[in-house]
Amino acid sequence: MTDKKTILSGIQPSGAMTLGTYLGALKNWAALANEFDCYYMIVDMHAITARQTPSEFRKIQLSQLAQYISCGIDPEKNTLFIQSHVPAHAQLGWVLSCYTMFGELMRMTQFKDKSSKNEENINAGLFTYPSLMAADILLYQADYVPVGADQKQHIELTRDIVVRFNGIYGDVFKLPEPYIPKVGARIMDLQTPTNKMSKSDISDGGCLLILDSPEDIMKAFKRAVTDSETQVRYDVDNKPGVSNLMQIYSACTNKSFGEIETEFSGQGYGALKTNVGEAVVETLRPIREEALRILADKAYLEGVYKKGAEKASQTANKTLKKVHKKIGFIPSD
Ligand code: TRP
Repeated sequence: MTDKKTILSGIQPSGAMTLGTYLGALKNWAALANEFDCYYMIVDMHAITARQTPSEFRKIQLSQLAQYISCGIDPEKNTLFIQSHVPAHAQLGWVLSCYTMFGELMRMTQFKDKSSKNEENINAGLFTYPSLMAADILLYQADYVPVGADQKQHIELTRDIVVRFNGIYGDVFKLPEPYIPKVGARIMDLQTPTNKMSKSDISDGGCLLILDSPEDIMKAFKRAVTDSETQVRYDVDNKPGVSNLMQIYSACTNKSFGEIETEFSGQGYGALKTNVGEAVVETLRPIREEALRILADKAYLEGVYKKGAEKASQTANKTLKKVHKKIGFIPSD
């Protein structure tokens, strides 16, 4: 037992991970291992709220795990696992769905968003998604949940569930907080820099993947949308494209916006694009090479997710047992 605080997060294996996922999430996750007890999942159960092709789905998950590791999330120091390998998620998810109100779920902007974009498949799982996410978090008594702004409403709902549940049964769950890193990079689409870079709407050349080749990366930056001025200056409202390039460059080189403005003063956008492209290529090169190496070693990957599930189950089952007891289920052993 440690007295470290607990962190938990997960990413849906619904497509390849982007440069934005690395700079905005994985890079920060990797840095938390010494200070916190960290659990990082591949949320396969959430991903089936949209249709997946089974063979492709399996590949994406293994690739995602290989990339977690190659981005610096050491499986010896963190618990890496696949959500469905820990049945307690489904079990607590059901229980919590009985402590989540229909009206609360109706108000979730992600549900409204996803259901309006996919009217042929508005399934019950998509609707109760937040109860399962609450279970993910509460099983581990997580103190902090690193998420993007789009997930904050789900954390708020999780907190409401905790208050409701603890109000009836006593102190069962810890109240989790969203964890917004101090220097969280928010990376935008290279073609439409007012939209977040996202795997779900891959515009032509606007979204870069962690596993993209150096050639594709350079090509995408050469074509990146800027503006009709020539001055490299950070101004998100008036110069979203240039500001995004500066954000990416800063995240890859640790240079401040001021330093970047000086570096490119009088040089125009061509030099900026080439330099950002090269910085991204060099940042992703070791990550990509390591991911491909790990991916080729299926036995190693299997060892990682099996050990992760075992460790995660121990913590999760403790919480689940307590919950079952509190609500009056009869123990089976
Ligand atoms: N809903 C999250 C997303 O789409 C993924 C997720 C599922 C998650 N369970 C979680 C994130 C638990 C943090 C904690 O991005």
